[in-house]
Amino acid sequence: MASLEELKEQAGIAACSFVSDGMAIGLGTGSTVRYSIIELARMIREEGMSIVGVPTSEITRDLATNLEIPLMELEDASTLDLTIDGTDEFDPRFDLIKGGGGALTREKIVALASRSMVVVADHTKQVETLGRFDLPVEVHATSWLGVKEAISSICSGGVFLRGGKIEPFVTDNGGVILDCSFGPVIANPGHLEREIKGISGVVEVGLFVGICDAVVVASEIGVNTLINPDGRLKSSGGVKE
Ligand code: A5P
Repeated sequence: MASLEELKEQAGIAACSFVSDGMAIGLGTGSTVRYSIIELARMIREEGMSIVGVPTSEITRDLATNLEIPLMELEDASTLDLTIDGTDEFDPRFDLIKGGGGALTREKIVALASRSMVVVADHTKQVETLGRFDLPVEVHATSWLGVKEAISSICSGGVFLRGGKIEPFVTDNGGVILDCSFGPVIANPGHLEREIKGISGVVEVGLFVGICDAVVVASEIGVNTLINPDGRLKSSGGVKE
């Protein structure tokens, strides 16, 4: 029986079939996409691929730098060809909860700057309705208490400052994260995203709605590539015209 770690590796590597020579690629954050990044480094080293990456976090920047993947900043790239990233949950409409690693803001900026987004996941991330995983929301460090109160009025399971008050988790942007326990009831993620984004002090919400084009998901029975029928990728490969 394959371990969860082996499934992550299988999904991470399989997603690199979407990569072709000359691409500028958004490099996601997390323990699954880590395997995609390692595979990209191998493709550069062993297959002579010319690839440039845009990291979505400092931890990914360090990983890619150590693996000698050429990097550029998002502001220096007009459009990226592809972003590969992990997820905390994905639903049948290819909507996502992200931010378990705290990198949701840059992850969303990079994904939105890309012509396509491929998500890598093991089967435990697949859900019918989003919300079992606490929804991460990045907030300006000075505003977390007010935002917590505002979100609490719509979130019955509680809103928690990641890391706690004494030693809060601080994002790469200097923000903090509120983890919001909605439970598996987020039937309209677009509406909830807009509602939370409207609260003053919110930097970004970990709901990715209408952004993901494909999920490469690994389970005991193998690796399956799910193509979003409303997305930008063709099932035969490449980007729709
Ligand atoms: C990082 O902020 C997250 O969005 C990750 O992409 C997500 O948490 C998935 O990470 P794992 O692959 O480690 O589960």
